[in-house]
Formats: sequence, C-alpha cells, structure tokens
Amino acid sequence: MNQAEAKVRIEELRGQLHTYNHNYYVLSQPSISDYDFDMLLNELIDLEKQFPEFNDQNSPTQRVGSDINLEFNQVEHKYPMLSLGNTYSEEEIRDFETRIKKLIDGDVEYVCEMKYDGTSISLTYEKGKLVQAVTRGDGVKGDDVTANVKTIRSVPLQLSGKGFPDEFEIRGEILMPFEVFNSLNEEREEIGEAAFANPRNAASGTLKMQNSSIVAKRKLDCYLYYLLGKEIPTRNHYSNLQSAKDWGFKVPSNTKLCKNIEEVIAFIKEWDEKRDDLPVPIDGIVIKVNSLDMQEELGFTAKSPRWAISYKYKAERVSTKLEKVTYQVGRTGSITPVANLEAVQLAGTTVKRASLHNADIIQNLDLHENDTVYVEKGGEIIPKIVGVELSERSAEAKRIEYIDNCPECNTALVRKEGEANHYCPNEMGCPPQIKGKIEHFISRRALDLDGLGEETIDLLFQKGLIKDVSGLFRLTKEDIVPLDRMGDKSAERILNSIENSKQVPYERVLYALGIRYVGATVAKKLAKAIPSIDKLATSTLEELIEVDEIGGKIAESIVEYFSNEYHQNLVAQLKEFGLQLEKKIVEDENSSNTLEGLSIVISGSFNKYSRDELKDLIELHGGKNVGSISKKTSFLLGGEKVGPSKLAKLEKLGLEMKSEDEFLKMIGL
Ligand code: IVH
Repeated sequence: MNQAEAKVRIEELRGQLHTYNHNYYVLSQPSISDYDFDMLLNELIDLEKQFPEFNDQNSPTQRVGSDINLEFNQVEHKYPMLSLGNTYSEEEIRDFETRIKKLIDGDVEYVCEMKYDGTSISLTYEKGKLVQAVTRGDGVKGDDVTANVKTIRSVPLQLSGKGFPDEFEIRGEILMPFEVFNSLNEEREEIGEAAFANPRNAASGTLKMQNSSIVAKRKLDCYLYYLLGKEIPTRNHYSNLQSAKDWGFKVPSNTKLCKNIEEVIAFIKEWDEKRDDLPVPIDGIVIKVNSLDMQEELGFTAKSPRWAISYKYKAERVSTKLEKVTYQVGRTGSITPVANLEAVQLAGTTVKRASLHNADIIQNLDLHENDTVYVEKGGEIIPKIVGVELSERSAEAKRIEYIDNCPECNTALVRKEGEANHYCPNEMGCPPQIKGKIEHFISRRALDLDGLGEETIDLLFQKGLIKDVSGLFRLTKEDIVPLDRMGDKSAERILNSIENSKQVPYERVLYALGIRYVGATVAKKLAKAIPSIDKLATSTLEELIEVDEIGGKIAESIVEYFSNEYHQNLVAQLKEFGLQLEKKIVEDENSSNTLEGLSIVISGSFNKYSRDELKDLIELHGGKNVGSISKKTSFLLGGEKVGPSKLAKLEKLGLEMKSEDEFLKMIGL
C-alpha cells in the first residue's frame, strides 16, 4: 500500500470505527460483531504504525490507553464548575419556584434530569475534536485527565453531524455502571485488594489512575448534561441537549421537558419508583430552568446557580442495635471487621450484618459496645453504618478496640504502611487462610474441580486429610467415601476431576496458586511473557516490571511468594503430580518456519484452540496474523460462523479457506 492509499484507508477505518463505537456505546445498538470490530481496529493500528505521519490524537486507536505514567496538570476552568443547592421535599421545590417567580414574569419551563452519582467532568471540543478533559477539582482548577477520558468509549473523540460550534465545553458525569462495579469488586477481593465502597468512589478512583490502559479496561461511562460556549445552538437548554445528542454525545433519554412545577413534582415521584432499575447510580433529580435567557437573568449565588437545584432521594435509613463486631479472615489473610446487628428491615431485605471495611472506619465512627447505629443502603450493595445515636449510649459503654491478634489462630496482626487492612501473617497455619486457598485453587477460573465444594473442603481439612492444595492430589477413594453425604459415585467424580485438572493450562494453574495481586488477567499476561514457573520463580523484580501491565506491587508480591521455602516446596510437589507448570504451545523447540511469508486471517469460532492460541501458533511457525482480507492474504483460517461478508470477499479475491484441522496438520499438530 502506498502512502496515498494508506491515507484513504486510514480515514475510512477511523470513520467506520467512530460510527460503530457510537452505535454500541452511546445508542446501545451494536452494528458489527466484536470480532469484526477488533479486526478493523487491528488493521488501523497496523497502518498507523506503518505510516506514523498520519497519527491523530483522536484516532479510535487511542482508546486503549497507554502504560506511560500520567502526571496530571492542573488546569484553570474557563467557567467555574459550581455545585447545586440540595432539596429534600416537595415544599422546598415549591420554594425554588417561588424564588424564580419573584425575578421572572410569565411561564417558566423546567428540564428534569437524573442526578448522576459519579464524578463530574468538563470536556472541551475544538473543530469537532476532543481536546481536553478536566475534573472538577476545587471548582476553579481541576486535573487534566484527557488521556484517561479518551479511553471511555461513550465519549466521542470526533463529533458527527452538523452545527456544532467551533469551540465549546460540555459537562457531565463519569460513572461506573453497577454491573462493572460489582465485577470489579469481585475481582479485587479475589486478588486480595480492598473493595471499593461504592460506584462513585470507584469511578473517581479510576479516573485518577496513572495508567490509562487500566482505565480503558474499567469500562466507565459518561453522560452529558450541560453545554457552555459562545456559539451554542439555541437559547434553550433542552434543545441544546438534543443537538449534543445528534453530535454523538450520550445525553440520557429520560431527561424531560416540564411545562410547570407540577410536572416536575410528578417526575420526581415517578423516578423514586423507577430509579432502582437504572444501570448507573443516581441519587436524585436535577431541575433546571429551560430558557438560557431566564438563566442569565437569574444568575448565581456565590456557590450555585439560582436557575437550577437538585432534589435528593432519601437513602433508606434505619436504626438498630450493634450486637458485636466480629472479624473475618480472608484467603490472603486480610482481616475484615463486620458489624453484627439486631435484625432490621431495610429497602425490602432483612439486614443483620454490615461491613466495617477496616480499622479506620471503626475509629471514625467511634463505635462503642451496644451502640444504636444508623444503617443505610444507598448505591452500595452491602448496607453500611453511617452514624451512631450518641444520646442512646450509656456512660459505661466501652469503645470497640480493634483486635491485635488473629481471631482464628491468635497470631499478632500486621498492617503494612499505606494499606487500609490488617493482615494475619500466619499463612501456613491459619485455618481460614488454608481453606480459602484451597477453595480458590479449585474455583471455576482456576482448576475448576467438579464435585468439591466449600463443605467438603472443610470436612477434608477437619479430618486432617488435606493440609494444603497438594493434599488434593494424594486423596484416595477410601479417604472420600466415609465423608458425610459422599458415596462411591461422588468420590469417583471428585477423583476424576482431580486427575483431569492435570491438563489445565499453565496460566490457570498460576492463577490458582493465589499469589497476592495475581488475578486471572495478570496470570495470563505473566504466562505469556514468562512461560514457565521455573523462570517465573527466578525472575528478578526488574524483569517482572518489564512485563506488560505488571507494576511494582504485583512484582514484589511475586518475588516474595517464590522466596518462601514453603511455596517452593509446594510448587515442586505440584510439578511431581503432573500439573502444567509451563505454557505448552510457546515452547521454542516447537517453533518452525513452515508459515514463513504467509499472511493469515483468523475468523469464526474454533474447537481445539482459542483464537489467541491460534494467533500464537501462527507466529510460532513464522507466519503473520493480519486483521482483514486483502490481495496479500495467503488464506483464511476459518472456524464456525465465518461472516458472510468475509466469505464473499474471499471468493472475490479467489482465496482459500482452511479449517482448524487442516491448519493444525500444516504445522504438524
Ligand atoms: S448541572 C451549575 N446536571 O451534581 C450546575 N449536575 O451538585 C452544573 N450532577 O458537580 C451542574 N447530575 O457532578 C448537573 N444532571 C445533572 C447532574 C449534575 C449530577 C452533579 C455534578 C455537579 C453536582 C452539583
């Protein structure tokens, strides 16, 4: 491809990808398969690499972020970012209208919007391109987080449609959808990191991360609600928002134009019922005067506009008695204090426990024995204690003191500097840590052992039949059958799945070991870069940090793990039992140059190998995996469900398709 052709193709790809992206993330109407999207994106990445003269900061390829450590520059806001006055009752809404009517004659229209519970952002566009994204900061100055915001798929990097001003600002909220929040927290707990308390903290924490490629994976969303600039299209807020929608912004469709304050009040009531069904957290409704002329007339107080106000829904709150504080010990030894409460009804469920997260929370609440506490369920899934009723505390009540020793094994707890949680360091002798590690080892994404659950592990441990994960591989039928609710059949099933687990690929075994901070994704990266456990165990801190996405914290934890004699022993035993402790297909001795000079496109789904593995195999045998079919393609490696457009193109160019089996035969597998 020459330079001129490349320019045309690059522009074409960027246009297509912007549109597909908008359809998917803004309109929620996907118009292409994920796979085909990735293929086009890969093609663009390749072309941009070959022709760096056409680089564009707003290309769809910029969305994946980078590993470069960001330092946030402080930027002064052109227009300060103010906050809104809060109201909590219908009466206060009517007061708001009375204040407006004193200054404005005639009818006033209002726009009602969700009050999104995330972190606010100001985006600047010039000539249709995103040029800057700044956090609220103190309202006058904020942090330039452009690189991170670019990774948010619903933020347009390039506007579409017509009529957008040459220069303008648009403000909105960056949010973490509940679904993303829940799975992020699950993952964090899995690798022994503290969970985020709510989606708001998770969103603002993510936005301030210094590695934009991690931000890109966190799947934030962004809703826009406020246009600013000299040339914005009309003199009313509602229709400006509709224009913004046409330019590609995610403007929520549940925004409503209300003719009068009665309609506003009806809207607030309607959404009190419906708000639980939204995919993102909201904590109220924002009411804005629709006419910009009226807005100007009304102006601002020192802190907030007179033309807008927020109505906050009450988080459901009840009071109950604190019975005691207990402490849970996790798989990695981290201690979580839990408030045990007198049962109470809250938002439709019975609440008996609330997480207290760590020692600081207990201290800040200044909890005492038998306290009457207030419990709330807001955006969070787990109820939390938000305060104490001091008037009900007796004079003799003792302050709750955080424990010094592990509640399970009595070892003195430690708290590393800069960390919120205490840990029990007795990794090898503390029962819940041992059992937790075994449970993790057999879990679905790890060795996925069938027929073994928490209860069986508990029994096996109590009876002294297993002391750590290696014990699983020494179990016999005679060990299992006598256990509660076990028979010949179930014992066989367990032993079978233990045997089968010896075929589980290295990356999952690595994850199964439960090294702190090594979750499933990190294990995959590690296995790819350092394909055997022996190499991994002898890798230095510097070598580990070299690996894509492995930072200092993970690297340290890996070095620490393997420097421990107990772990060295364990790994040696697992090796003896025949577990996969090196990555199979990347072994150098298997490589060849059978595919040298060949450009191979992969499409469809496969039975024996994953697409990534096939990609590795192509490279291992000297071939090149390319994104889309062209004259230069050697053949298509097709699985099931190859797209019809791909087949048509293949035929047009007179190219061949090979099946998975045919391909494997070529490379002698
Ligand atoms: S308008 C001058 N609209 O609430 C008014 N704000 O307390 C500018 N927020 O910092 C804000 N949803 O983070 C506006 N639909 C909405 C909103 C909203 C959430 C947040 C925003 C702002 C805070 C104001």
